[in-house]
Amino acid sequence: MIQIEVRLQSQIDRPCSALAYGVFEGKQFSAQEHGGLGEEAAGVIKRLFSEKIFSGKPGQIFSFLLSSEGPAKIVVLLGLGPEKKFSLTSLREAAAPLTGEFKRLHSKRPAVFLPSLVQKKFSIQDIARTVTESFLLSAYQFKGFHSSPKNGRSEENTLDRIDLMVSSESEKNRAEAGRMLGEVVATSVNFARDLGHSPANLMTPEVLAAEAKKMAKECGLKCTLLEEKEIRKLKMGGLLAVAQGSPHMPYLVILEHKGARAKKKICLVGKGITFDTGGISLKPAKDMEKMKYDMMGAASVFAALRSAALLDLPLHVIGIAPLCENLPGANPIKPGDVITARNGKSVEVINTDAEGRLVLMEALSYSEIFQPDFIIDIATLTGACAATFADQCMGLMSNNQTLAEKIVRAGTRSGERAWQLPMWGDYLGMLKSEVADLKNVGAGYAGTIVAAKFLEQFVPKDTPWAHLDIAGVAWADSPKPFTPKGPTGVGIRLLVELLKDWK
Ligand code: BES
Ligand code: ZN
Ligand code: ZN
Repeated sequence: MIQIEVRLQSQIDRPCSALAYGVFEGKQFSAQEHGGLGEEAAGVIKRLFSEKIFSGKPGQIFSFLLSSEGPAKIVVLLGLGPEKKFSLTSLREAAAPLTGEFKRLHSKRPAVFLPSLVQKKFSIQDIARTVTESFLLSAYQFKGFHSSPKNGRSEENTLDRIDLMVSSESEKNRAEAGRMLGEVVATSVNFARDLGHSPANLMTPEVLAAEAKKMAKECGLKCTLLEEKEIRKLKMGGLLAVAQGSPHMPYLVILEHKGARAKKKICLVGKGITFDTGGISLKPAKDMEKMKYDMMGAASVFAALRSAALLDLPLHVIGIAPLCENLPGANPIKPGDVITARNGKSVEVINTDAEGRLVLMEALSYSEIFQPDFIIDIATLTGACAATFADQCMGLMSNNQTLAEKIVRAGTRSGERAWQLPMWGDYLGMLKSEVADLKNVGAGYAGTIVAAKFLEQFVPKDTPWAHLDIAGVAWADSPKPFTPKGPTGVGIRLLVELLKDWK
């Protein structure tokens, strides 16, 4: 992992191997203001602008070598786009290619001149946080299982440190606070990405539970693992039903962070299907290998709890994740089977591929024992959500408008969009069963909403609850600025943002 450090300009060995500056499009770039860049650099930059070689478009990068002594051997200019449109979201994207550029330049210890990225609307703390997130998220790579190093990942091509350069002590303290926050969030996202990348033969429910436990120990979370025997005692028929087609036993992971002076109790619930074949309602072969990421809801909950612990948030946060595998093994559930949930409700299983709601219903109803003030679940729940939004946002559904709006705002602040869908009572009618209280699928339309209506039936009475469907965004088919191809870790930044400023 890249170490990000905040350092005073005066403490950085000169010349720095590569020093990056942010440049706003259409704005005069002052070499003097920016860390005494020196005559030569100022001249080059001026020419780059007048010759229209570099204009500061978002994400544009131009690097040049200086012949004379200055603060840096190589100057890297980073386009930030027009100042008017500048936001933390645009900065997170624009800064992402810098890690690749530093690697390309073989720069051992590059730096970014932080004040050049600061703009009226945002504090240096926000900027340091965002840049840290951008660097750590964009440089993420899953280790993989190659027997010899993969091309392009040789030793000398690694980047192990980036300095965030500031010009005064007071800037340093504020930037350090931001850097720390960014590092906690980004390393939590990368932790979740690692879990999602891991193939289902290795990342079985028991291994995933053990990973949660290990992480909990490392960052001081309380961790309880419920095994099959206890799950049976709790009468979690849904979790047992989905697990019964697999040789792997189900688990229920409970993580707890109890901050000092915690006034609010929040349950986070995450879907943890370590592989979803669809069961007897088998999925098509195409893209099925991706269904190893059907546990990203659970991974996001683990990651959010990790952040809550490391930031020591003044909240009582409880993470609950039901883990199992959906396989059409020797003794699977079959379409038409009727199962009974822990809260006594009976469910007719019409489609064994709608398994997420069968495990989540148990975790949601179980959350009642904690008497939470709020519940939020996160799940790769419906293909319909991907059909609705593509990879542009999460689906958000809630029984409480205040909570829904809080989530939307946290999404905007963290750059992870959530879009609310209606929860009209009429949708529940689609889940009427002739033989049980509910069936597990509707007629096929409005699949995302109908799934949420199903979950709502298991939410403890009078508890504000929100559901995030991340099916369309939990996996990136092609790389994005700070999201390599693969599991994205979406929702974690939103959840941490929400918890961090909970009022
Ligand atoms: N894990 C899937 C949802 C999913 C689909 C996630 C595509 C990511 C990408 C879920 O368990 C599922 O199979 N849902 C069914 C529900 C249907 C049977 C009502 C679906 O969406 O097709
Ligand atoms: Zn499924
Ligand atoms: Zn699933």
